[in-house]
Amino acid sequence: MIKMSEVYIKSPLNYVGGKYKILNQIIPKFPKKINTFVDLFGGGFNVGINVDAETVIYNDVIEPLCELMNYFSDNTANEVIDKLEDNINFNNLNKENSEAFLKLRNKYNHYIYENIDERVLDFYTLILYSFNYQIRFNQNMKYNTPFGKNRSCYNHNTKKNLKQFVDKINNINIKISKEKFVDFDFSKLGADDFVYCDPPYLITTGSYNDGNRGVKDWTVDDEKQLLNILDDLNSRKIKFALSNVLVANNRKNEVLTEWSKKYNVYIIENTFNNSNYRRKNKNDTIEVLITNYGEVEND
Ligand SMILES: C[S@@+](CC[C@H](N)C(=O)[O-])C[C@H]1O[C@@H](n2cnc3c(N)ncnc32)[C@H](O)[C@@H]1O
Repeated sequence: MIKMSEVYIKSPLNYVGGKYKILNQIIPKFPKKINTFVDLFGGGFNVGINVDAETVIYNDVIEPLCELMNYFSDNTANEVIDKLEDNINFNNLNKENSEAFLKLRNKYNHYIYENIDERVLDFYTLILYSFNYQIRFNQNMKYNTPFGKNRSCYNHNTKKNLKQFVDKINNINIKISKEKFVDFDFSKLGADDFVYCDPPYLITTGSYNDGNRGVKDWTVDDEKQLLNILDDLNSRKIKFALSNVLVANNRKNEVLTEWSKKYNVYIIENTFNNSNYRRKNKNDTIEVLITNYGEVEND
C-alpha cells in the first residue's frame, strides 16, 4: 500500500480539522486540469498545497495565518528552519518550560513589532508549543491557546513537514487572500477554475468554531450564504467541491442534506468513525465531499 507521506505533503501546522488524512479520497476527485484553484477556507493549507494548478489562491479569515503563509512563500525552507530554530533556542522553549511559553505568548500579544517577519515567526513558534497545536484568539485577537505541556514541540517530524511544505509553496504560483468567504471576489473565475470549500462544520465543534478565535461562530446563515454562492458558481459552470458532514454528534445537517441532493455526494470513509468498521448506526458521523461535476477519470 502506498503511504500518504509518499504522495502528499502535510501542513506543518497540524491543523484541527485539517484534511491531510483524507487527501487520498478528495484530491483524486478534483478535475485534472485546473487553471485557478481557490482554497476558500485555507486553514493549514493541507489541500491547496497538494493541488496541481496554474495558480493557487489561499484564503482564510484569520489574518496571522495568511501572514504566515506569505512568510513561508517568501523564504526558502533553510531560511525558515534556521530562523525558527534560533527563535526556539532564544526563547528557551521546550516541552516542559511553561514559563517560557507564557512569556513568548505575552510578548506576541503586547509587543509592538517593527518587523512583520519577527511577529510571524513568534506566532508560528507559539503554535508549535501550544496545546494540540491549536490556533485560538480571544475576542480582542489576543492569542490564548494554553501551553501543550509534555506534548507539543518542534521535532524531527515538524522539521521534515516544514521543509517539504516550504519547498513546495516556494514553487507554486500562490496568491494569499484574507477575505471572509462572502467578500471573496468570484467574478473573475471561469470554467477552468475550481473552488474548494472546507468551512467550519455547523454540527461539530472545532476550535475554529467555538467563538474563541477572534472570528465569529459559524451560523446557519453562513451555511446558507455559502450554499447560495456555490449554486451561483454552478450556474456559471464553475466547478466546486465542498467538504462537510451530513450527520455528526447525533445531529443531522438538514439544510445541507437537502441542498446536496442536487449534486454528487461522495461518502468519506474512516476519519471521525476512527476505524475501518462500518457505521454502526445512523447517528454515526457521515463525512462527505459534494461536487457539482461527475466522476473524473483516473490516469
Ligand atoms: C476546517 S478549517 C480548513 C482546514 C484546511 N482545509 C486544512 O486541511 O488545513 C476551516 C477554516 O475556515 C476559516 N474560516 C472560518 N470562517 C471563515 C469565513 N467566514 N471566511 C473565510 N474563512 C473562514 C477558519 O479560520 C479555518 O481556518
